[in-house]
Amino acid sequence: MIGQRKAILQVNSITKDFVRRGFTSRAQTVMRAVNNVSLQLFANQTYALVGESGSGKSTTGRIICALERPTSGTVVFNDENYTDFSDHLLRQKIRGNIQMVLQDPFSSLNPRKTIEHAVLEALEIQKIGKNHSERLDAVVDMIERVGLSSGMINRYPHQFSGGQLQRVNIARALVVRPKILILDESVSALDVSVQAQVLNLLQDLKQEFSLSYLFITHDLSVVRFIADRVGVLRKGELVEEGTVDEIFDHPQTDYTQNLLSSIPIPNPEHRQLAF
Ligand SMILES: Nc1ncnc2c1ncn2[C@@H]1O[C@H](COP(=O)(O)OP(=O)(O)O)[C@@H](O)[C@H]1O
Ligand SMILES: [Mg+2]
Repeated sequence: MIGQRKAILQVNSITKDFVRRGFTSRAQTVMRAVNNVSLQLFANQTYALVGESGSGKSTTGRIICALERPTSGTVVFNDENYTDFSDHLLRQKIRGNIQMVLQDPFSSLNPRKTIEHAVLEALEIQKIGKNHSERLDAVVDMIERVGLSSGMINRYPHQFSGGQLQRVNIARALVVRPKILILDESVSALDVSVQAQVLNLLQDLKQEFSLSYLFITHDLSVVRFIADRVGVLRKGELVEEGTVDEIFDHPQTDYTQNLLSSIPIPNPEHRQLAF
């Protein structure tokens, strides 16, 4: 079935090298963070990219988000190769379509600016909305849609809990109406019960806004609940890929088996918890 459907995003054999220079010598060492990774994301699906710390998950996410360029390989959104797009073209064609939510809820919010400002700014950067009042309506709408109340928009980040702040970050990402959301460990820092609430919210939003998710995590306990397909990264290489059931029920490598065996909560319980 997947073969007949068209991918909304194609990642074709991307490699990313980071060059490190020594402090004292001119010697350079090349660190290959991502090695020949290919994957496809289908409309309305969730692809979980998993792997231990340092395996290249975030670098892959940042390349897809066009925050980083690959050393080789291409990234294609809706049949358009945007690998070498200028900043102008990226802003015009990609930034509004591919958005990212990071792990640390505080990191992408300015502590001195209100929540209203943070979400509004996303619309202003993308030049969405006819005027201020139309943009403000969209902000209030989205703030409510992520489960916060409109009365909160004049508050500052420190007045929110971690879970509430991730809702703000999700609102800020979604207010520009992207097609793809990259969630880089977005629930990993939250308590398990809060995690479940945010995961449920993400499932609802995916339906409502016809989104596709790239769900990046080192924690496989949430993957079975949220993903359609899973890709397993090890030292920058995609060592295994398949449906959630294939990966969870018939892992092909010891590495994947080890990742699975470190899941703290049995899956059926987690399913209950998440619903
Ligand atoms: N900007 C950078 N400069 C140098 N090395 C980097 C940079 N970003 C990531 N790396 C290295 O690339 C590897 C993969 O990192 P990352 O993609 O962050 O992995 P993950 O998200 O799976 O933990 C790591 O060894 C990391 O140290
Ligand atoms: Mg990471």
